[in-house]
Amino acid sequence: MPLHAVVLAAGQGTRMRSRLPKVLQPLGGQPLLTHVLDAATLLSPARMHVVYGHGGDAVRERFREADVCWVHQAEQLGTGHAVQQAMDGIPDDASVLVLYGDVPLVRVDTLERLCDAAAGGPAVLTVDVADPAGYGRIVRDAGGRMRGITEHKDATSEQRAIHEINTGLVACPAGLLRGWLAGLGCDNAQGEYYLTDIVALAVRDGIAVAAVSAASEEEVQGINDRIQLAAAERVLQRRRARALMREGVTLVDPARFDLRGRVTAGRDCLIDVNAVLEGEVRLGDGVVIGPHCVIRNTALGDGVRVEAHSVLDGAELGEGCTVGPFARLRPGTRLAAGARVGNFVEVKQSDVGEGSKINHLSYIGDARIGRDVNVGAGVITCNYDGASKHLTVIGDGVFVGSDCQLVAPVEIGPGATIGAGSTITRTAPEGQLSLSRARQVSVPGWRRPTKKV
Ligand code: UD1
Ligand code: CA
Repeated sequence: MPLHAVVLAAGQGTRMRSRLPKVLQPLGGQPLLTHVLDAATLLSPARMHVVYGHGGDAVRERFREADVCWVHQAEQLGTGHAVQQAMDGIPDDASVLVLYGDVPLVRVDTLERLCDAAAGGPAVLTVDVADPAGYGRIVRDAGGRMRGITEHKDATSEQRAIHEINTGLVACPAGLLRGWLAGLGCDNAQGEYYLTDIVALAVRDGIAVAAVSAASEEEVQGINDRIQLAAAERVLQRRRARALMREGVTLVDPARFDLRGRVTAGRDCLIDVNAVLEGEVRLGDGVVIGPHCVIRNTALGDGVRVEAHSVLDGAELGEGCTVGPFARLRPGTRLAAGARVGNFVEVKQSDVGEGSKINHLSYIGDARIGRDVNVGAGVITCNYDGASKHLTVIGDGVFVGSDCQLVAPVEIGPGATIGAGSTITRTAPEGQLSLSRARQVSVPGWRRPTKKV
């Protein structure tokens, strides 16, 4: 049976108190809806349908690349009505899996069990919870067979005592579902077309309804407000931390690790506390990331050390580089093997050659730096003239003394030495000492002024 996933995402999400539609709220660096679509994709569905309503344009815009069928639900008349809107695009011989756009942590194996249980009739994903208030209750007969789902608002006090609840996720053969949806009424406490009523209709038609238990409450937790969003974030981060540790990465404290993207790591990497990894991050073997670092879209070669409080974005570091503490590498930074960037150094759109050092208090922008170069403390490339950016080229083996300004475009030949405190505006020739500073004068017999009384 071809599988059609239907994601319900038309709800308003009022309790978020946000301009952003609920399914676009970020979890682990990605919209909630991305997590749901990713889980569904792993089931290789024939088609994914997203039922949208509130804030729909923003949702479609954000997911314009996604291979989904958009279904507009103009009025939110209930979950049954929402699923019905998608049925036009689903053939009778299909199997339908209903997901919620705001239930992002559901596991793929749970979804597989749910789909497997729905071969001949509906299957409902249920879970036992300590506090069932607000949820639909699973009503069973004396023999334990499922008879129906009663919404909290419609439930008797006896039914309200039931702790087995409907997670909302359901699978069902499409032909049967279509018939039952057509027969739904809205004579209930909320005046809505309840998807949950298909259970009673199946029972009426003598078709068995399967209940599949979720592995945990947290995987089916819906997200309605920012408190639940934060709780889900912790669950997701715990999962990601565990996966990384299983792959052989040491996390000094998995509770203080945040991955908002993807990371691949070699052997024996160590990540200290409060690291935030974003986008695509690649770690070679034996990489050490110190405490309080932010690393985004960056590749770190074997044996790289990133010391505490460094921020790396769009950088590529060769084997054995050392960065920080308190370093900032901006997009387009490429450090060759063994290069060192020290504290309070900012590097942007620059190549730094093998073994070169920029150890203290510098700004290096739009520079091509050769190998074995020493850039002294406080050196600044003046790359911007107020209108355009210009290049600074520094040859192999150059020594730039402390506190120099290199006014781009400018070139420093291989093996040149730049005297401390120089402002370099023209080519510094290969092998020579260049300096541009006033000669020191000393005034013999000079006295400090004193205050007149
Ligand atoms: C629903 C279930 C309830 C279950 C609970 C789990 C029904 C009638 N009730 O209740 O049994 O315990 O979820 O959280 O199904 N949506 C639409 N269009 C609509 C209405 C809803 O797209 O017209 C979407 C919402 O965006 C949301 C999902 O469907 O993602 C569930 O809607 P919600 O209003 O939260 O359902 P509950 O009343 O909580
Ligand atoms: Ca809900």
